[in-house]
Amino acid sequence: MLLESILLVAAAAVTGACVEECLTSYNVPFSVESSPDYNNLTKPYNLRLWYKPAVVVIPDNDKVEEQLHAAMRCASMCGTKVQAKSGGHSYASFSSGGRNGSMVVDLQNLQDINVGGEGTVTAGAGVRIGTLAAAVYARGKRGLAHGTCPGIGVGGHFTHGGFGYQSRAWGLALDHIYALDVVLSNGSMVHATPDKYPEVYYAMRGAADSFGIVTKFWLNTIQAPPSVIDFAFEFAGLYGSAENLADGFLHVQDFVRNSTVVDSNLGFGMYLDGQVLLLRGSYFGDLDHFNSVIAAELLRGLPTPSTSMVNKHTYLESLELLAGGSLSVPAHGYDLHDNFFAKSITVPEHAPLTRENLVSYFSYIIAKGVNPPAPWFSILNLYGGPGSKINAKDLDFAAYSDRKSLWVFQHYVFKEENQTALPQEGMDFITGLSQAVTQNRTDFGAYLNYVDPSLSAEEAYQLYYGQELYDRLVEIKRLVDPYNLFWNPQTIVGFP
Ligand SMILES: Cc1cc2nc3c(=O)[nH]c(=O)nc-3n(C[C@H](O)[C@H](O)[C@H](O)COP(=O)(O)OP(=O)(O)OC[C@H]3O[C@@H](n4cnc5c(N)ncnc54)[C@H](O)[C@@H]3O)c2cc1C
Ligand SMILES: *[C@@H]1O[C@H](CO)[C@@H](O)[C@H](O)[C@H]1NC(C)=O
Ligand SMILES: *[C@@H]1O[C@H](CO)[C@@H](O)[C@H](O)[C@H]1NC(C)=O
Ligand SMILES: *[C@@H]1O[C@H](CO)[C@@H](O)[C@H](O)[C@H]1NC(C)=O
Ligand SMILES: *[C@@H]1O[C@H](CO)[C@@H](O)[C@H](O)[C@H]1NC(C)=O
Ligand SMILES: *[C@@H]1O[C@H](CO)[C@@H](O)[C@H](O)[C@H]1NC(C)=O
Ligand SMILES: *[C@@H]1O[C@H](CO)[C@@H](O)[C@H](O)[C@H]1NC(C)=O
Repeated sequence: MLLESILLVAAAAVTGACVEECLTSYNVPFSVESSPDYNNLTKPYNLRLWYKPAVVVIPDNDKVEEQLHAAMRCASMCGTKVQAKSGGHSYASFSSGGRNGSMVVDLQNLQDINVGGEGTVTAGAGVRIGTLAAAVYARGKRGLAHGTCPGIGVGGHFTHGGFGYQSRAWGLALDHIYALDVVLSNGSMVHATPDKYPEVYYAMRGAADSFGIVTKFWLNTIQAPPSVIDFAFEFAGLYGSAENLADGFLHVQDFVRNSTVVDSNLGFGMYLDGQVLLLRGSYFGDLDHFNSVIAAELLRGLPTPSTSMVNKHTYLESLELLAGGSLSVPAHGYDLHDNFFAKSITVPEHAPLTRENLVSYFSYIIAKGVNPPAPWFSILNLYGGPGSKINAKDLDFAAYSDRKSLWVFQHYVFKEENQTALPQEGMDFITGLSQAVTQNRTDFGAYLNYVDPSLSAEEAYQLYYGQELYDRLVEIKRLVDPYNLFWNPQTIVGFP
């Protein structure tokens, strides 16, 4: 045992020296453990999973092609696995490699945004979504579908889905992509489109972590609506009866499937944490119609909300509200962190949650989530329902298999800014919370942007991709990354 770990440490040292020497010979900028910026560069968003890369490569914006060409050669030659890092928000710290000893390619110098004339925009892969949204809105009041937290990187977010309240109207973040500049495992940079490198273009839109490094995104944008109705209805004191909660939820589930009141202009989600429950979202339409038709049906028969917010905003104000105030994010030295564990569940559109699923869920929350071992929350976002553009595409369009979902759950337990404190009981609570929903069913999946480090690779393949997409991705992996250079504990493996 001791000998084994000495050998492992020795092997890591040799690999590290090999990569360092190789990168130096090609003049590629990098940081290693002895470098002054190594600690800051490797501090992950999720402090619970702080891995130690062998090397962090930080390509210059104007030399990215030659430097990443060299970096891929060095990684191949020295036997180092590679992962890209954009915003660094991976729930599993996969952008730190997902284990010690990897090569991280930190894209923070790739910050160019060019808004084109025809409603298109190109963005370097180090751009954050808040920065991108503000730039796109500033030129012609246009928008994109994306998540709410402005510090999320485009690199991970746009390549593994990307949900926001715009998504039922406009699709996922990944649906805006029309071309990608990608560095492949052999070091070549390609411009991938539906016609050129179609297999790369396909796999990178949904499973990029397994296939390459996007350096530049080519995106279509959409005219923002003239105004947005933001709403939140908060309920308190509900955690008494699981049956009542289940019945209230079933009404909400009927509402989201009711084409008399719901169309693609409604973005909707629920938030709950054992204290409050919120029904919230954004509506791209008229305030009076929202109040008299949509909110009226949503709230029909439910207890009176303890607080209600319904406000008309510009599209930009709506994004700022959801972002917690501001869309601006520093391009360098971003320093927000959490210490957390999360799991997700995708619920198929054709098989909504049953009363049994819901009673089981709320019973668990009442028993264990009102006085929990650590603070937690659950967010259920609406993907499906009448007119949803998320579900309008299929597996031939992109390597993304969660589309035919009605709901996507996220279960999240946290201790802010504290590397050691998240208790095992908190993680067990979240595992149990998910099991309370999934028990007796096998038709649920999981969302790759809420990547779950507790899954084995085999579980991850089935939950994220399903068999059909997994089989396709294995074939592409064999073609474009035969030696599994792009690796984290859950990436697709072509040849074992
Ligand atoms: C506070 C917070 C709020 C969030 N809100 C939402 C939300 O509203 N909606 C939603 O859908 N998701 C949301 N997420 C999840 C988010 O979409 C994912 O964590 C996303 O993958 C983060 O992208 P990143 O570039 O910041 O992360 P990174 O950690 O840099 O990357 C994540 C993964 O993508 C790979 N990757 C990164 N860049 C590239 C690239 N250029 N080429 C190839 N692979 C790359 C990495 O190797 C890693 O495996 C949220 C996350 C957080 C932490
Ligand atoms: C590391 O980050 C901290 C906090 O943002 C900053 O004060 C410090 O200067 C950084 N150190 C280096 C070497 O960049
Ligand atoms: C990874 O490195 C960290 C920091 O040095 C160390 O605490 C941890 O034990 C290492 N993990 C493994 C699996 O070696
Ligand atoms: C759909 O909404 C309409 C309008 O509020 C309502 O009359 C009807 O009962 C709803 N249908 C279902 C199945 O809930
Ligand atoms: C799962 O099945 C068991 C055994 O039939 C049953 O007791 C339990 O209530 C079911 N749970 C759910 C959530 O359907
Ligand atoms: C982190 O958690 C530990 C254990 O609960 C506690 O002793 C410590 O003060 C916390 N540190 C911070 C910075 O909150
Ligand atoms: C790198 O791989 C791509 C995709 O498989 C291929 O088209 C390209 O020719 C390769 N480049 C070199 C230099 O072999």
